[in-house]
Amino acid sequence: MHGSDGGGGGAGAGSRVAWPTDGLSFGGDYSPEQWPWEVVLDDMRLMREAGVTLVTLGVFSWVVHEPREGVFDFTWIDRMLDLLHENGIAVDLATPTAAVPMWLHRLHPEILPHDELGHPLAPGGRLGFCPSSPTFRRFALRIVEALAEHVAGHPAVRMWHVGNELGGGNARCHCPVSNEAFRRWVEARHGSVDALNTAWGMAFWGNSYSSFDEVTTPSGVTAHNPGQLLDYERFSSDALLECYRTEKAVLKRVTPELPVTTNFMVGLGPDVVDYARWAPEVDIAANDHYTYGPDPLRHQELAFSGDRMRGISGGGPWMLMEHAAGAASWHPINQPKAPGEMIRHAIAHLARGSDSVMFFQWRASRSGTEQFHSAMLPHAGPSSRRFAEITRLGRHLEALREVRGSVVVGARVALLHDDEAGWALKSGLKPINRPDYAATARAIHTALFERGVTVDVVPAWHPLEAYDLVVVPGLFLVSDADADAVRRFAEAGGTVLVTWFSGIVDVSNTVRTGGYPGAFRELLGVRGEEFSPLTDEQTIELSTGWRARRWAEVVSPVDAGTEVIASYRVGGAVDSGPPGEGAGGAAVPGGFGGVVADGVDGGLAVSRRPVGAGAAWYLASDLEPEGLGELLERLLDESGVRPAAAASAGVEVVRRAAGESSWLFAINHGVVEGWVEATGVDLLSGTAWEGRGVVPAGGVAVVREE
Ligand code: GAL
Ligand code: ZN
Repeated sequence: MHGSDGGGGGAGAGSRVAWPTDGLSFGGDYSPEQWPWEVVLDDMRLMREAGVTLVTLGVFSWVVHEPREGVFDFTWIDRMLDLLHENGIAVDLATPTAAVPMWLHRLHPEILPHDELGHPLAPGGRLGFCPSSPTFRRFALRIVEALAEHVAGHPAVRMWHVGNELGGGNARCHCPVSNEAFRRWVEARHGSVDALNTAWGMAFWGNSYSSFDEVTTPSGVTAHNPGQLLDYERFSSDALLECYRTEKAVLKRVTPELPVTTNFMVGLGPDVVDYARWAPEVDIAANDHYTYGPDPLRHQELAFSGDRMRGISGGGPWMLMEHAAGAASWHPINQPKAPGEMIRHAIAHLARGSDSVMFFQWRASRSGTEQFHSAMLPHAGPSSRRFAEITRLGRHLEALREVRGSVVVGARVALLHDDEAGWALKSGLKPINRPDYAATARAIHTALFERGVTVDVVPAWHPLEAYDLVVVPGLFLVSDADADAVRRFAEAGGTVLVTWFSGIVDVSNTVRTGGYPGAFRELLGVRGEEFSPLTDEQTIELSTGWRARRWAEVVSPVDAGTEVIASYRVGGAVDSGPPGEGAGGAAVPGGFGGVVADGVDGGLAVSRRPVGAGAAWYLASDLEPEGLGELLERLLDESGVRPAAAASAGVEVVRRAAGESSWLFAINHGVVEGWVEATGVDLLSGTAWEGRGVVPAGGVAVVREE
């Protein structure tokens, strides 16, 4: 997964490129163009007070640099770079291409992205351009080159930030230019019309093409082919990547010494672009991460995305480029972070391998779309709980300066996650048409998170030798090579857990026949014939007492070695019915009226097959947390995987290390005092820990271990 072009978002990235700050980077998006000069001067004082070391500048400043077509004015950026430099603040300078100037929209209205119905978006938002537009690209590269040449050599500029969240608003375009670009992309991928018809299975419904000229983006209102839908996702990701690459090429030519990145939006996945396949193109992998306030497990979701960033960046360190100091403003209801939560989240990102804590944004805007989005400096000003917490965080990061450059260690579990699998799952009709690709991965990650086990969430093609346990959660699409690597891992002594609806299609989104789960059937020693998904009201009990929902399937052991660990208990099905029906929605034990239970009653739900020196487990149902936890404990036991440290419930533990030194991060997300076993000094409080330390409710500790 590592780049060979010297860019390389892989493990070596941190060592090959200069990190923008000496210590951990702390700051946020900074938009002084929105404020009068007195406020900007006040910002400098307050940034110093808070301990800010890095700001992302100029994200939306195209019209400031080029107020009219072809007229450049860099007096503002010069002034800002000098001022920030005088104040000891480094700059992550953005190319301003996320902010198409209104004059460009007037000159070239055709560059606007077009939605599925072929309607252009309106000017006025951001990323208002078609990723494939040569016209847009010509203007974009001109401002990028002029800006780069102008600021080259300025000591404040430490890295480049290309555009902003590429794809955040313009990820899927259906304009005539995109249609033509898609045709050429499809032709390059498939070579001949026959190969294309085969790959997409266009014979179905008699849709076969006779020429590439008949290919269109999957727009409008009709049922599109799953192969076409998946390739369109790939094409769109590639088109956006090309936007990044062309800007990067200019920047590398003008300022070869500066690292180049762009801010990813890595969440649970699948994301709008395929970041794992992009990663080799960035010098430092950077992420924007926003939690969803009402999610009670938002700290776990944060850990998942952090583990994924590490998997994507080949080990890190990576950069947290944006997160929120308090409330967002795009949810229906936007709740602030509770006291202490912002600090816990910031430190949790560090624990998962980030070497920065950056926010959107420094100062809360008074106007514009995001006038109510939280910021490091809120509308209330510096005399506020929010700003007090920010300055406390700044002091914490100063105390943690020594961890910069270290990496997360001790991950013996790999969880295979691939955007293409997620895209394939939502392309076309499926047994369950509410695709939630990451749900199983997240449930398993949660169970491991709660047990203090460090997990690398890695792309499906990631080397597996370093792990003891490999989890393949709902990996709907898998290539032959990746499936084979999982088999070899088990043969070499590893433990594998494959979960339902994995390995079903190949890379063309074509079903693998002969029995489910196609790509993993032999490895698992099972053969499935039919899926039997459950309604929201249905659950099934297993012979082990575990309960499952959402999914069941008719699958049998077909190898002498395959052991049935759990089966569906005969009569263990419960249908509580839609609310309001029957006995007021009360549970009705005894099956599903012969529909589901008849097929799966007594059948295999969990199996294990010894393979070479290892074993392959199959989970053919969606276990509720208690059963899933017990199953994972068996797997951890079998593979000899231990937690990062013994800790009380609710305390997150992760270890980072560099050379001989190691740091144990302990974050108490709970409301009662917790403990962790470690010996050393907590860098945040200065307290010595001997064997065991206390982490107060809602508190954090980072112990330099002895
Ligand atoms: C990010 C974006 C920022 C800001 C932030 C808060 O997605 O990059 O510019 O919009 O969200 O909403
Ligand atoms: Zn387009």
